[in-house]
Amino acid sequence: MKAIRIHRFGPGEDVLQYEEVPKPSAGAGELLVKVEAAALNRADLSLRRGTYRVAPEDLPIIPGREFAGRVESAGPGVSDFRAGQPVVAYPTKGGYAEYAVTKAALARPVPDGIEPAVAAAVPTVCLTAWFALLEDGALKPGENVLIQAGSSGVGHVAVQLAAVVGAARVFTTSGGAQKCARLRELGADEAIDYTSRDFRQEIMKMTSARGVDVVLEMVGGDIYTKSLEVLAPGGRLVSIGGAVGPIPDKPPELTDGRKATRFSITNYLNAHPERFKQLDTFFDLIRQQKLRIVIDRVFPLSETRAAQRHLEGRDHFGKVVLAMT
Ligand SMILES: NC(=O)c1ccc[n+]([C@@H]2O[C@H](COP(=O)([O-])OP(=O)(O)OC[C@H]3O[C@@H](n4cnc5c(N)ncnc54)[C@H](OP(=O)(O)O)[C@@H]3O)[C@@H](O)[C@H]2O)c1
Repeated sequence: MKAIRIHRFGPGEDVLQYEEVPKPSAGAGELLVKVEAAALNRADLSLRRGTYRVAPEDLPIIPGREFAGRVESAGPGVSDFRAGQPVVAYPTKGGYAEYAVTKAALARPVPDGIEPAVAAAVPTVCLTAWFALLEDGALKPGENVLIQAGSSGVGHVAVQLAAVVGAARVFTTSGGAQKCARLRELGADEAIDYTSRDFRQEIMKMTSARGVDVVLEMVGGDIYTKSLEVLAPGGRLVSIGGAVGPIPDKPPELTDGRKATRFSITNYLNAHPERFKQLDTFFDLIRQQKLRIVIDRVFPLSETRAAQRHLEGRDHFGKVVLAMT
C-alpha cells in the first residue's frame, strides 16, 4: 500500500516520504480500516520537526492522528464492528496511508450522510474544543466566552460548540476581515480582526469593562498574556497550545478567583477513555446542522507535502484533509 513515512525529523516537508509500505493487519482488539480521508492537525507539523511525543527511536512513523474509512477486517475479540462499516478512528498515528490499524476502542461508527473528509476531521478538534470549554473552562449557559484563533481547526468548532452549550456571547479573533466574516456566519457574535483592532480594548468596550468568563487560548506568546487581561473576576483561561508563541510552563497566579490552566486532549482521554464516545454527539450535531466542520481543502495522499505547507501558512479556514480515493 502507499503511505507517507517520516524516517528522520526535519523542519521542511521533504522528510515526508510517499512510498510503498507493507499493509498492516489487525491484532487482538483492533480494526484494519481502508482509509478514505485523514485530517491534518497542527501537531503533525510538530511531529515532523521532532517536537511532539515521538522519539527518534520510534522512526520510521506514519503520521496521521485521525482518519475515516471502512472496516476492512476486525481482529480477535472485536464484535461490535462489521466489514464494510464506515468508521472514524483516532489512534493518533498511522492515518496518512491507504490502510491503517486502530484499537477498536478508539473507533466509532459514522452515521449515513456524513462524508469521510468531514468525519475524519471531527475527533481532534471537536473533542479538544468541547472538553477544554466544559471541563477546565467550566463554561455554563449565559456566560461570555472568547475563542482565540477562530479560523483554526479547533477555533471554528469551538465558536459553534460554545453556542451549543448556551454561551451568552461568543467573541473570537482572527487575522483578516474575510475570516472574521466567515466566523460571524458560523455564529460568532463578535469577530475581531486582530490585524487592525486591539482585541483587549474591543472586548472591554463590548462587555462594559467586565471581560469574559472563559477564554480558549491556542496562540501563545503575547496573545496568552493579553488574554489574561480580559478575564472577568472568576474567569477561566484554558490554554491548549501555542501555535505561534510559547506558553508558561506553570500558569500564573491570578486575582479575584481567576484561573489559568493547560489542557491536553491526549492526557484527558488517557484519563477518561469512555469520553471518546462523545464523538457520537458531534455527529448528531452535524446532522442537525448545529455544527459545521469547514473543509478548507482536500489534497491527495501523494501531495501531503503541499497539504502541510498549506496548513503551515495563514490562508486556511477550518480543516485541511488528505483523501486516499
Ligand atoms: N491541547 C490539545 O489537546 C490540542 C489539541 C488540538 C490542537 N491544539 C492546539 O491548538 C492550536 C490550533 O490547532 P489547529 O490544528 O486547530 O490549528 P490550525 O488550524 O493550524 O490554525 C492555526 C491558526 O493560528 C493562527 N495564527 C496566528 N498567528 C499565526 C502564525 N504566525 N502562523 C500561522 N498561524 C497563525 C491562524 O489564524 P489567523 O490567520 O486567523 O491568525 C491559523 O489559522 C495549536 O496550537 C494546536 O497545537 C491543542
